[in-house]
Amino acid sequence: MIDRRLRTFPAALPSLALVLTLGLGFLLSACASTAVAPGSDLPSEDGADGTLPRIMAGLSEDAAGVNAGIWLEDFDSIAASAQAIADHPTVSDEERASIQAVLGEDMADFALGDKTVHETAVSLVEAAKAQDMAEVLALNAKMQTECVACHTEFRGRLADR
Ligand code: HEC
Repeated sequence: MIDRRLRTFPAALPSLALVLTLGLGFLLSACASTAVAPGSDLPSEDGADGTLPRIMAGLSEDAAGVNAGIWLEDFDSIAASAQAIADHPTVSDEERASIQAVLGEDMADFALGDKTVHETAVSLVEAAKAQDMAEVLALNAKMQTECVACHTEFRGRLADR
């Protein structure tokens, strides 16, 4: 399922003009954010300076929160952390321009990667609310794979900025 989705990235490119037009998906459009103390297993993220590394650090904390919730079988905590991933802060205008300058046309593929994680996180929230642990585990693994797929594709290029 995940592999199929990843393989169809290029095939999905024609529809990506739409994603671009709509404001580069969720990473680059306005999203709600939730502020909680860093280091807790609750939703973190303030995305303070709107840079990618800062937003990613928040995603990392929230992904850890999902895992902590799984070990505690705390479905509320899993749902809250997954929701924070789905609603992660947006990049600043300056950061968006910087990413765009490096990626050019590949920006659409980057936005799709973000959208994919967003949608999986939303499904994860639903599975947690349904207290369906098997589905939570499957979707968490899927989401992590999608995080890493984006890193594999783009991290090297953007880390060199
Ligand atoms: C749309 C692409 C994309 C997605 C999706 C994505 N990342 Fe990232 N991530 C990046 C890029 C690019 C970098 C490197 C940024 C840089 O160095 O400027 C990065 C870096 C990171 C870092 C290191 C931050 C640092 O300070 O160096 C962490 C941690 C991270 N991501 C976690 C996650 C988690 C957890 C998820 C999924 C919930 C995720 N990322 C999803 C693109 C993505």
